[in-house]
Formats: sequence, C-alpha cells, structure tokens
Amino acid sequence: MTENLKIAVSVSGLSKTYNNGLIALNDISLDIMKGEILALLGSNGAGKTTLISIICGIVNPTYGVVKVGGYNVIYQYRDARRLVGLVPQELSLESFETVFDTIKFSRGLFGKPRDNCYLERTLRQLSLWDKRNTPVLELSGGMKRRVLIAKALSHEPRVLFLDEPTAGVDVQLRKDMWKIVRCLRETGVTVILTTHYIEEAELIADRIGVIDKGKLLLLDDKSVLMKKMGKKELQIDLQVPIDVIPNSILKYNIKLTDDHESLIYTYEKNSDRLGISKLLGDLAAAGVILKDVSTRQTSLEEIFVDLVGEKK
Ligand SMILES: Nc1ncnc2c1ncn2[C@@H]1O[C@H](COP(=O)(O)OP(=O)(O)O)[C@@H](O)[C@H]1O
Ligand SMILES: [Mg+2]
Repeated sequence: MTENLKIAVSVSGLSKTYNNGLIALNDISLDIMKGEILALLGSNGAGKTTLISIICGIVNPTYGVVKVGGYNVIYQYRDARRLVGLVPQELSLESFETVFDTIKFSRGLFGKPRDNCYLERTLRQLSLWDKRNTPVLELSGGMKRRVLIAKALSHEPRVLFLDEPTAGVDVQLRKDMWKIVRCLRETGVTVILTTHYIEEAELIADRIGVIDKGKLLLLDDKSVLMKKMGKKELQIDLQVPIDVIPNSILKYNIKLTDDHESLIYTYEKNSDRLGISKLLGDLAAAGVILKDVSTRQTSLEEIFVDLVGEKK
C-alpha cells in the first residue's frame, strides 16, 4: 500500500487499557497532516498524554496502528522515533551537564551529524544562549522548560509534540514558544499540542481535536468548527428594567439577566435573521424600551462545554 505523503502521523483504531483496567483511549483514529498545528483539547484525565506517549513510542497501545512518517511506531520504532520531538508535560531534567552539552548529547542520541550552528540557533531562539555553560541543575523551572524544548528540537524533528506546554509557564516563554511553533510550521514541521486552555487552541491551532474520556469527540478545522457549531447571542439592554419576560416573547429562546436590565437572545449563526427583527418588533409591541443592542459570537469555550457537558 502506498502511503499518503501528506500525512505526518496516522492513528487508526487506537485503544489503550492500562494494567489496572483503566480505559484511557477508546478507538481513536485520526490523520495529522504535514505542516499543520493541531491542538488536542481535553480536560485532565481525558487521555491526551496517553495518546501522545503512544505516538512517541513511550507507551504501548492495546489495539490499533500508529505510524509516523509512514513508520510503524512499534515495528519501526527507531525510524519513527527519529522523526519526533517531545516536550513532556512534567519537568524531567536534573542533569549536572551544561545546557549546551545536554542538547548536543540529545542530538547525538538520534544519530544526527554534529551541527553546532543549528544548536546555537535553537538556544538563541529560546534565550538560552547566555546559559549554555550553566549546569541544567542550577536553572530555574522556567529555564529548565526552555531546555526541554531545545532538547526536543535538538535532532530537527519533523513532528513536534508539546504536552500542556503553557501550564504554569510565564508570559514571555509562552510568546517565545508560539513564535517558534509558527517558525517551525513554515519549515513544514508538524506541531501537535495538548491543552486544556481553549483560548490557546483558538489562538494557535489550524485544527482542533476534542478528546473526552478516551474518545475523540470531534476533529475539525478551527474555522469550520467555529462556524458549524457557533451560536450567536444578541444582548438587548433595556432602558427600564423589567420583572418578567412578556408573554408575547416567551416563544423566543430568550433569557432575562439576573439584574433584570438585559435580555439575552441565543440563535444559530446560520439561521435566517428574520427572527431578530420579529423579536425586536414584538418587544416594541410589548412596550419594552431598548437602550442598546449588541451581538456576540459563542466562543470555543462554550462549544467545548456543550460537547463535554462540563463547566471548566
Ligand atoms: N500509567 C498509568 N496507569 C494507569 N492509569 C493511567 C496511567 N497513566 C494515565 N492513566 C490514567 O489514564 C487516564 C488518561 O490519562 P492522561 O493520558 O494522562 O490524560 P490527560 O493527559 O488528558 O490528562 C487518566 O484517568 C489517568 O489517571
Ligand atoms: Mg496530560
């Protein structure tokens, strides 16, 4: 069978049951395309780290087939592993080695020829160049995280995994990280990040997958997702607060705010706009005087809550 050359990672029928019987992944299939930024969104315990760990060959699947660059992550482990870089969720760096030696060693592990220029560039991008001769052990938590990123990039991976990259990370590192991610994409590198911050997925991703309880609930282009599932809200501020919603407008999907000063009308983005003008007409007929009207697009956050049925 010929491989689709545009696919960076293919996951098919993947399930994982841990030894204690816990089902962490349940029949997941997805293709991740070369050069895309995919955000895997899900609450704690959803299965994100398990999925990433299997793709990186750290955890064995129970069922299913996973390939990176066409290489099976189990039967062609070394070839597959060479293509991926992983920035783990947990800090796992307590080396006496210097920053530079750490990433040089890491590159060597993957059998890549020496390229100190590349390593220097990577360290500079991460503002680590000044620390190149400092033992990793002596660095602050934020700096260690930067070293983990440099390590993951040391062998010029074609697919980079960032597992909860911004949890507990300062603003500057977050900015640096997004800059690097965008640069990487320009060179055709695929970036997969997990997050439980919706804003983050909204900001950086080309496609978003939502994982909950080991299932991939949906996977779509960010814009398609927003369009398909987006609802809009019309906020109607009232000149004079009202006690109850007039009978004549109860048929609309409308709520009175707690302060009784506004009405919120929710409607499907793609449905016709006739509803709004009718509503406004009915309001005027009921003697409700308006002060202001504004619309708002439902955020990905609300889409997520709708799907997963849980407030975050
Ligand atoms: N080594 C393990 N043994 C048993 N259960 C595990 C192990 N690792 C993770 N789990 C469980 O699998 C589920 C998914 O975990 P994880 O993949 O870490 O989720 P996420 O990264 O989305 O928070 C959780 O219920 C977690 O407790
Ligand atoms: Mg995790």
